[in-house]
Amino acid sequence: ANPVVAIVGATGAVGVELLHCLEARGFPLSRLKLLASPRSAGKTLPFRGEELVIEALDETSFEGVDIALFSAGSGISKRYAAAAVKAGAVVVDNSSAFRMDPDVPLVVPEVNAADLAGHRGVIANPNCVAAIATVALAPLHRAHPIRRLTAATYQAASGAGAAAMEELRESTAAYLRGEDFEPKVLPHPYAFNLFSHNADMDVETGYNGEETKVVAETRRILDAQSLPIGITCIRVPVLRAHAMALTVEFDEVVSPEEARALLAKAPGLRLVDDRKKNHFPMPSEASGADDVLVGRIRTDIGDPSGRSLALFVAGDQLLKGAALNAVQIAELLLKR
Ligand code: A2P
Repeated sequence: ANPVVAIVGATGAVGVELLHCLEARGFPLSRLKLLASPRSAGKTLPFRGEELVIEALDETSFEGVDIALFSAGSGISKRYAAAAVKAGAVVVDNSSAFRMDPDVPLVVPEVNAADLAGHRGVIANPNCVAAIATVALAPLHRAHPIRRLTAATYQAASGAGAAAMEELRESTAAYLRGEDFEPKVLPHPYAFNLFSHNADMDVETGYNGEETKVVAETRRILDAQSLPIGITCIRVPVLRAHAMALTVEFDEVVSPEEARALLAKAPGLRLVDDRKKNHFPMPSEASGADDVLVGRIRTDIGDPSGRSLALFVAGDQLLKGAALNAVQIAELLLKR
């Protein structure tokens, strides 16, 4: 029989995309159970032409559930994942709660699907930047080990949830009307502005929690535990797709042509690299797309040794950065 699937956080920015992905990919499920806070209980969401009623999450929610897709923040994951596993479900967790737990595989299907094998009931879905970046980095890293990575990100509102996306819309409308807007969700004015990522800042090191996560998770997904990574994460006024500039140093000279050829045939990637038309990856074209866009592939002239390449990448934060990757993991679980 087809599995019973539950979505925890079904009303959130990622939750709604999980429903879309399951529907769009024709995921073979026998029943879909939608769970959220008591605030949403009784409301409905459309799925395959039906209106499914949302239930309030509690410890008993997972009876009969085979696969539980969690996307309601790490507090909820820490509190309820064990109950789901105890009830016999496999948890695919979109939060950061278990990503660095050595017993929990951290999986990007195009990169390290084999890591699923050792799971004990919980599989972690990576941070959105780590998932999008590793889809582009893994094909290069496999051909020529990466010895150093520098990243600057341009991150969309969706990573901070549905309320942050609404704040971007409302603050932009207020700005255009010439009205004041008091930020409620994000710490700084968002319309026609950008700011250092809103994750908690470590005042000792000067790095924020998003940067720390991306470094640790990228190393784990690429199985490159000691890879040196420098990173600056920035929130930009874009609704749902992240972009990033990646500078990759190899042990040897790798030509842009070879990199382009490797990336062109890699799964989950689409090459957007038209120098004549100045057409490269953009959030507007990555939004709603399953593929991660990669381009601006060139030799980094900042490295006199010639062993570094620069690339620009854009990927839908809600899809490859979250919901799509989780559903791909669930599909792998069904195959096993
Ligand atoms: P709700 O809409 O009922 O508050 P986002 O990441 O877009 O902010 O979404 C967060 C998701 O987590 C929403 O679906 C939200 O449901 C859900 N959530 C928040 N608190 C709880 C809770 N205590 N129990 C279950 N789901 C929760």
